[in-house]
Amino acid sequence: MTEELVVSDPQERFQDFFKTDKYRQRLAEMAIEGKTSVIVDFEDLMIADSELAEMLLKKPDEYLQHANRAAYEQLQVEDSAYAEQIEEVQVRIRGLPESVPLRMLGSEHIGKLVMVEGIVVRATPVRPMVMRAVFKCKRCETLHYIDQTGSFLRAPLKCSNPTCGRTGPFEFVQEESTFIDSQDIRIQERPEELPPGQLPRSLTVKLVGKDIVDKARPGDHVAIVGIVRASSPRVPKAGRLRVFRLHLDANSVDVKSKEPETIRISPEEEKQILELAKDPWIHRKILMSIAPSIYGYEHIKEAIMYLLFGGVPKRLPDINVRGELNVLLIGDPGTAKSQLLQYVARIAPRGLYTSGRGTTAAGLTAAVIREKGGGMTLEAGALVLADKGVACIDEIDKMRPEDRVAIHEAMEQHTVSVAKGGIVATLNARTAILAAANPALGRYDPYRTVAENINLPVTILSRFDLIFVLRDQPEKETDAKMSEHILSLHKRGTVPIETPIPPDLLRKYISYARNITPILTDEAIERLRDFYLEMRSTSETEGSPIAITARQLESLVRIAEARARAALRKEVLAEDAEAAIAIMRRSLEEVGIDVSTKKMDIDIIMTGKPKSLRDKLQVVLREIIGMEKETGMVEKRVLLEKLEKDYDIRRAEAERLIGQLIRDGTIYEPREGFIKKT
Ligand SMILES: Nc1ncnc2c1ncn2[C@@H]1O[C@H](COP(=O)(O)OP(=O)(O)O)[C@@H](O)[C@H]1O
Ligand SMILES: [Mg+2]
Ligand SMILES: [Zn+2]
Repeated sequence: MTEELVVSDPQERFQDFFKTDKYRQRLAEMAIEGKTSVIVDFEDLMIADSELAEMLLKKPDEYLQHANRAAYEQLQVEDSAYAEQIEEVQVRIRGLPESVPLRMLGSEHIGKLVMVEGIVVRATPVRPMVMRAVFKCKRCETLHYIDQTGSFLRAPLKCSNPTCGRTGPFEFVQEESTFIDSQDIRIQERPEELPPGQLPRSLTVKLVGKDIVDKARPGDHVAIVGIVRASSPRVPKAGRLRVFRLHLDANSVDVKSKEPETIRISPEEEKQILELAKDPWIHRKILMSIAPSIYGYEHIKEAIMYLLFGGVPKRLPDINVRGELNVLLIGDPGTAKSQLLQYVARIAPRGLYTSGRGTTAAGLTAAVIREKGGGMTLEAGALVLADKGVACIDEIDKMRPEDRVAIHEAMEQHTVSVAKGGIVATLNARTAILAAANPALGRYDPYRTVAENINLPVTILSRFDLIFVLRDQPEKETDAKMSEHILSLHKRGTVPIETPIPPDLLRKYISYARNITPILTDEAIERLRDFYLEMRSTSETEGSPIAITARQLESLVRIAEARARAALRKEVLAEDAEAAIAIMRRSLEEVGIDVSTKKMDIDIIMTGKPKSLRDKLQVVLREIIGMEKETGMVEKRVLLEKLEKDYDIRRAEAERLIGQLIRDGTIYEPREGFIKKT
């Protein structure tokens, strides 16, 4: 199409369009829902009148006006009473044939109608904006009605009363002015579209109208149709800058994250996927395709496989049970934790890699931040941005204190609640978490509990379905194999072993599988129940360690479901249950064995201390409380002596117990050598 294209009588042609059955019906239904806007699927317009559609993209300001008026005229035909009531109709255009990537948006798009896609990272509260301002002349009281455009409130230049005609002063009359709901949001390129090593681009979108504000929340994936505008910030005393900034005046907002993530899969690829699933060794094949350049760690790759496929969330009338798995890797430096996480972020649908500190002010959960202008904005953190995906959090032990509080809710309820600075919101964070943590003391100490080894409270630890420890221990045979693996990798610059499933296909395979909802068979239920009861029965005798809790039972179900999904099965079989039990045992063994008794003890994970230790901590605490009653502050030296004499707790262990209580925040050291209960 050329620039000279002229469309005769566009309003009439829009009216012809609104006379088609589909749109007559849409207009007629407006009253039922009390709407003031009508949605037009761009494709329909293309088919009905391609020239008109073309012009709408090129000159949206003008052509949307025509469309609005035409829609209103047709509404007068369909429902004249409602037309009279609402006075005007907004046409909202949806589904342009293609979207402009945010990083491609440029000066050639200014004034054009485009569609952009992205993820909402920030949103202001809904604020009233003046559409028609009423000003009163303070000299003669004449009212002036000024239609407002642009960012700043515009007052009349001169009084319109011929007998007055002065330049003011004018008073803004709020009660007489008309307001409309408005909101600014910021959208960002989706993590999966980001070219490697690039910072994500973002764009401010201005939303005006009750029907489109507050529809998209931070974390939502959206497709927005709107007109590209350029504005330049005002610099005090110097005027406007010559460099303009782009923003979008939204015409329509489509929230896409309501539906599950779907990667486009061709019929050809679907055939490949179904073929793969027939392989009796499919789990092995998938596992071998995960991070092939990382040597060993097959149990961890297996756990990652389950995490990628995920279990089935249960929406019961009274409670929700998450389907996503959370996996934690604790390990010595240089054990390829970061590498694994980065790999998973690339392969997972909606994968995101971040460090515990987070990469923005919002950290892992969310934050309310003060904008330059003084307003408040809600900004989404990593777990919200990875909604319905996988969040890979490296060095999770270094997360912000605010996140430490908020992450519990995110990990179990899959939401992030914010109530701060006048903003009250609950955001979705239906995210599987793959996290890594470094030991607090530099190296993992097998003679300490998990909770003692890493700087994370047990309340967070217990929300991980599987925990693995990666230790960097010299071992002749594996060292030789590993060095050969790494060196050949560097020599050839490729993966030494053939990947059974190429990454791109694996990604599609996962996306395809996640639409399956496998159901537990009786045999699977039986296996899980037997295991659970067996583990529980060892705890029956009073005082013996508790091996497993209901939390692990839920984890087992999730893992078994994920394994069924990985084979594209609708049924969870006994073999899935057995595999789930095996990997759970492995995880429990790695973190749960009370080294002193060689017995399994889930208390280590749940409370950070084995039962025997818990009893000792009680003793120490009781002593401290007792001594405090007598002397106010407790002298550590005296306490240590007493513990040794009365309870046979030796100095080194007593120091350790005191250290634990300090870490737990039960006691503190008001000054060197002294202890006090908090
Ligand atoms: N099992 C392994 N297979 C292949 N490479 C490994 C393995 N273990 C460590 N490496 C290599 O060691 C380096 C350090 O890994 P990194 O992921 O930064 O460790 P971490 O995050 O655990 O401190 C990386 O280049 C990684 O590829
Ligand atoms: Mg690292
Ligand atoms: Zn006047």
